[in-house]
Amino acid sequence: MSRSLLVRAPLKAVTSRSVPFYKKSCLSSSTPLSLSKHHSFQTKSPVNRLEHLQKQFSTTSANMSESNNNFLLSEVFNVKGKVALITGGGSGIGLMATQALAVNGAKVYIVGRTEEKLDNVVKSHGQNIAGEIIPIVADVTQKSEIARLVKEIESREKCLCILINNAGIVGNTQQTEAKTAEEMKKNLFDDESSTFEDWTNTYRTNVPQLFFMTTAFLPLLQKASDTHHGYSGTVINISSISGIVQSSQHHFGYNASKAAAIHLTKLLASEIAENGLKIRVNSIAPGVFPSEMTASESGSDQKSHIEKDKYAKVPARRPGKDQDMAGAVLFTAANQYLNGQTVAVDGGYILHAGA
Ligand SMILES: NC(=O)c1ccc[n+]([C@@H]2O[C@H](COP(=O)([O-])OP(=O)(O)OC[C@H]3O[C@@H](n4cnc5c(N)ncnc54)[C@H](OP(=O)(O)O)[C@@H]3O)[C@@H](O)[C@H]2O)c1
Repeated sequence: MSRSLLVRAPLKAVTSRSVPFYKKSCLSSSTPLSLSKHHSFQTKSPVNRLEHLQKQFSTTSANMSESNNNFLLSEVFNVKGKVALITGGGSGIGLMATQALAVNGAKVYIVGRTEEKLDNVVKSHGQNIAGEIIPIVADVTQKSEIARLVKEIESREKCLCILINNAGIVGNTQQTEAKTAEEMKKNLFDDESSTFEDWTNTYRTNVPQLFFMTTAFLPLLQKASDTHHGYSGTVINISSISGIVQSSQHHFGYNASKAAAIHLTKLLASEIAENGLKIRVNSIAPGVFPSEMTASESGSDQKSHIEKDKYAKVPARRPGKDQDMAGAVLFTAANQYLNGQTVAVDGGYILHAGA
């Protein structure tokens, strides 16, 4: 396992660039069959058929009013051609975010400390997609590594459109339930796993890392606004409902760090806006999603699994799915009017746990 910063050559990506995403999605099973009626559709070869349908749909969208055009999924959630960097993109929520962007045409750099995980992601999910997934090994809790990451992206790209600060760790857990003050002290103070080091390690990865990654990438993020007309570079911090709920969930340090990440999101968004920069900073606060953090492991495709009934108390009665996170990531990345906010995607977890 290499912990040094190492940039891997991008695997060959992109297979279907010739067909615009929205036109491809129009070719789904919902395509009206009547289209084939007036044209000798049945006699065409598969390639001709595809071209024929593409023509049909470009005529349809060309005929649509400009106002209606603005409502197409391909306009509202357009991430095609955008450059993204996702820390912790090798598993769990970071991987979901990676797929959401890369499948829809973005070039996504994934960063983590374990080369093998990143390679597995490229192998399993980086082929035959509209975008690209490119692995970079780095530890984002070191300023020097962050500076090298910036240099690397700078040397390859004109700008960075989307930065997702997702890497995070949970730290040790303690029993919080106690019948007496003595017992509570024993659990939370005397317990050997309850240390200042555990708090500061957790904090280092979950809070200042967001600050240093964001501030280091400001010039490249600002260039996204200059490069893509009508688009502002964006930072998405992956915080947690743990920073919102009143329960410590047996890890005080983690929950306090996630509350700090939520407030840091607001501070950064505000100071950046005050300085007149066109960069939006938001946070997504997930509920429970399958990941190496929550399931303790992942398969050879880097995907994790948690049993549905383990979270029966959550109003949704299940953990979050890939698509639940994908929707939140695409919304937060694409919505130009969202700034300084935390979007909770939790199946109602906060409703159940109380804030
Ligand atoms: N899953 C959930 O239910 C849930 C809920 C709320 C919030 N979250 C948050 O979601 C984020 C992602 O967590 P996850 O649940 O998806 O867990 P995960 O599968 O463990 O993902 C965390 C990723 O971060 C990477 N990472 C950790 N420290 C790093 C460092 N110093 N430098 C570079 N990469 C680092 C890890 O890879 P390496 O170890 O190889 O570096 C790993 O791929 C975290 O911020 C977490 O707090 C998760």
